[in-house]
Amino acid sequence: RPAALVDPFGRAISYLRVSVTDRCDFRCVYCMSEHMEFLPRRDLLTLEELDRLCTAFIERGTRKLRITGGEPLMRRDISSLFRRLSRHLASGLLDELTLTTNGSQLERHAPALADCGVKRVNVSLDTLDPERFRALTRTGDHARVLAGIEAALAAGLQVKLNAVALKGVNETEVVELTRFAHERGMDMTFIEVMPLGEIDGAERIDQYLPLSNVRERLAECFTLTEIDYRSGGPARYMRVAETGGRVGFITPLSHNFCESCNRVRVTCTGTLFMCLGQEDAADLRAPLRDDPSDASLHAAIDAAIARKPKGHDFVIDRESRAPAVARHMSTTGG
Ligand code: GTP
Ligand code: 5AD
Ligand code: SF4
Repeated sequence: RPAALVDPFGRAISYLRVSVTDRCDFRCVYCMSEHMEFLPRRDLLTLEELDRLCTAFIERGTRKLRITGGEPLMRRDISSLFRRLSRHLASGLLDELTLTTNGSQLERHAPALADCGVKRVNVSLDTLDPERFRALTRTGDHARVLAGIEAALAAGLQVKLNAVALKGVNETEVVELTRFAHERGMDMTFIEVMPLGEIDGAERIDQYLPLSNVRERLAECFTLTEIDYRSGGPARYMRVAETGGRVGFITPLSHNFCESCNRVRVTCTGTLFMCLGQEDAADLRAPLRDDPSDASLHAAIDAAIARKPKGHDFVIDRESRAPAVARHMSTTGG
């Protein structure tokens, strides 16, 4: 078997995030521009190609596979991809097959996902207020997301809620969001907004809220204690004594976690990004399409991992107000 992937800084690459579509039914302000142009379908990897790609990474040490988008459940026939990938759970090569979703189609998909061996889903929910939700997502239907979350829980899936912390938008809701999550047995995670994507970059700099602020707000109502639970992603978790639940903090800006980075991302067109916060990328679609043996694919993966950078260059630059990285978050699925 080919060797497990280790980058130049000695970090084992065991977590692959694969975007299966750039499309989304929402237009979250921090993720997309209002009038996003989507890729022509012929540019997308087919489901067969996605399967080959994921399998190649699994052969090289990927233990955790997260399907992202855009909105992954917008991809036609996505359940057949989950079905195929679930063979790697059965064989023991993969520990976790999961997805991050906006929840809008989850009601329909939750039972089939659970049936494919998905144990846990991450759902983005920034607010409990339907009007604020509409303003943030531009097109999202809050009630459908809540129904999606309930359906996931009913199907036996563990759910983690993700909220991007935004100054002047949802900062006053962090206690309520945490209560909402914990009452339903869900983890709650807050995320610092990252300066990706040209269009609304300037506004995002003004909305940046360090999570120390969120933690202080939570500490006014809750007793928080450090715990060493890790989900395999970058979140640091704390226990809330009053609810018994966990709250996670993802702090790319205030506390860089790149030193322990274990992940890379592939877009829906087969572009491998070695870091969320860097422009450098490698094309895996040509080797996938040109060489059915996978030899070229493995060579391209090796060459790319050898260039994985030490970390991201995100800075909140109030002077130039420019985003650190020009592509939108929806390209790499976070
Ligand atoms: P768990 O498996 O539950 O730990 O999930 P996760 O946190 O790995 O995945 P999720 O899709 O829920 O991502 C939450 C947020 O973490 C997203 O906004 C990601 O962009 C961010 N994130 C994940 N990995 C990285 C990373 O390597 N660098 C940066 N800057 N952000 C990351
Ligand atoms: N900064 C931080 N998180 C973001 N997400 C989307 N765009 C950004 C951004 N600019 C989040 C989504 C989702 C996760 C995958 O990434 O809300 O929960
Ligand atoms: Fe869609 Fe997720 Fe981006 Fe919102 S954050 S526009 S739900 S891909």
